[in-house]
Amino acid sequence: MERPGRPASLAARMTLWYALSTFSLVLMASGFLYHALSESLAHDEDALLSEKFQNLTVRMDDRTSDLNDLREFVGELPMWYRNASFWTRILDDQGRLLTETPGMSHSLPLALFKTLPSKNGNPMATSTEGRPFRIFSATGIWTGHSPPSRVTAQMAVDITSDQAILAKFRAELWTVLAFAILACALVGYGIAQRGIRPVRKMAETAARISSSTLYERLERSGLPSELSDLAGTFNEMLDRLENSFTRLSRFSSDIAHELRTPLQNLRGEAEVVLTKARQPSEYQDLLGSFLEEYQRLSTLIDRLLFLARAENPQTQIQREEVDLKKELGLLQDYYGPSAVESGVAVRVESLEGLRANLDRSLFQRAVGNLVENALKHTPAGGTVLLRASNGGERVRVEVADTGRGIPQEEVSLVFDRFYRVDPSRSLASGGAGLGLPIVKSIMELHEGTVEIQSQTGRGTTVVLSFPAFSQETGHEKEAGSSVVVDYSSHSN
Ligand SMILES: Nc1ncnc2c1ncn2[C@@H]1O[C@H](COP(=O)(O)OP(=O)(O)O)[C@@H](O)[C@H]1O
Ligand SMILES: [Mg+2]
Repeated sequence: MERPGRPASLAARMTLWYALSTFSLVLMASGFLYHALSESLAHDEDALLSEKFQNLTVRMDDRTSDLNDLREFVGELPMWYRNASFWTRILDDQGRLLTETPGMSHSLPLALFKTLPSKNGNPMATSTEGRPFRIFSATGIWTGHSPPSRVTAQMAVDITSDQAILAKFRAELWTVLAFAILACALVGYGIAQRGIRPVRKMAETAARISSSTLYERLERSGLPSELSDLAGTFNEMLDRLENSFTRLSRFSSDIAHELRTPLQNLRGEAEVVLTKARQPSEYQDLLGSFLEEYQRLSTLIDRLLFLARAENPQTQIQREEVDLKKELGLLQDYYGPSAVESGVAVRVESLEGLRANLDRSLFQRAVGNLVENALKHTPAGGTVLLRASNGGERVRVEVADTGRGIPQEEVSLVFDRFYRVDPSRSLASGGAGLGLPIVKSIMELHEGTVEIQSQTGRGTTVVLSFPAFSQETGHEKEAGSSVVVDYSSHSN
């Protein structure tokens, strides 16, 4: 019975299995040897019995043989067989005793031989003194008798010494087996310990690793191949963890930094104004500027919250079937006025009736962020093109501008939170560097991808690609386990 909660250790199981299997092999081999020996002894005994009977029949075949001959034959016995006596009794056709080895009737009564099966070797019997015998009975024709008559010969050989040999062999086998089970258990234990040692070492290293020692890796050299693979996988996991951990800690210090600047501004302005008495209008101005700063802060916090929720693996989105051309048209209408103001044209290109199953508000927010970026970085006279196309199972939505572009080496960085290509410019325009990370999260929620192609001075194209109809049926999970992304503020 296993104790509840803690299954037997691997080493214990390996030891047990090794010991059991080798021990059963030893046991089988010993059993076989024992069987072979006892068969061989029985065979010798049987051979002796039939040889003696053969001698007797030769004697009886002689036409001149009389009772004296038979007595003489019996009298030559007991003949010694391996220090044990050989007994014979001869009965006439009526079952009356003709002659026997002296004392046989007492030690091995007639009745013992009555029900002998003659096939498959001779049976064993025990004499009245308690000695083991192999016994034999057969009939033959006594030709010397007139008229020739049928006689029964009963023969027995004392097999005490054979039994003693077997008993000695048995005792030795038990000793050997007792040692064997001990040796098997010890060897099995040794093998298991050896086999498990690298696992123990791995566990020790793994136990040492904490958030502050995420750089540690498992030593792979010298490990058996299976464990080396495991260690490799484990190390890869550590790589990923270390990476996310570094990013997370950078992210949190970035958040602190982003929050500190506006708060310092607020405090500075308040301190300056409070140095002396002011006109009511000055207080009004101050409150106005406070309001702007508060607005920026709450937008920032909204976006951070959005990202945090979107990252929650239990987040579910609410898909509906939408007409992509119509959605892009709505965005065109929304950003149209500000685009006209900065002299940029916004165009939509899409097939009629191109449909996809997606979360409408999240889609609006993602493409909205891209359009905002495009408008921000495109000088007057440029164009922002919203294009939707259909490539098999997937839908592509592109936002292409003719703006200043993103330097090649920074294209992969703009998806990092708080990353801004030109921080001073972005800050002035209110961007916190969270727009593209939000687009990426939204695409991930849609099992899609986002890519940027950009050439400095010529323009940027951001490509969203996602399955038109999600494999997952409807995203309707049990209530309670899911978080529905809420994006109350429309700003990116
Ligand atoms: N269409 C674009 N053209 C040029 N630069 C872009 C474009 N879109 C994004 N960028 C650059 O990528 C950076 C990150 O964009 P984003 O995550 O939206 O942050 P934000 O707009 O708040 O600065 C921006 O600071 C900007 O420099
Ligand atoms: Mg932006």
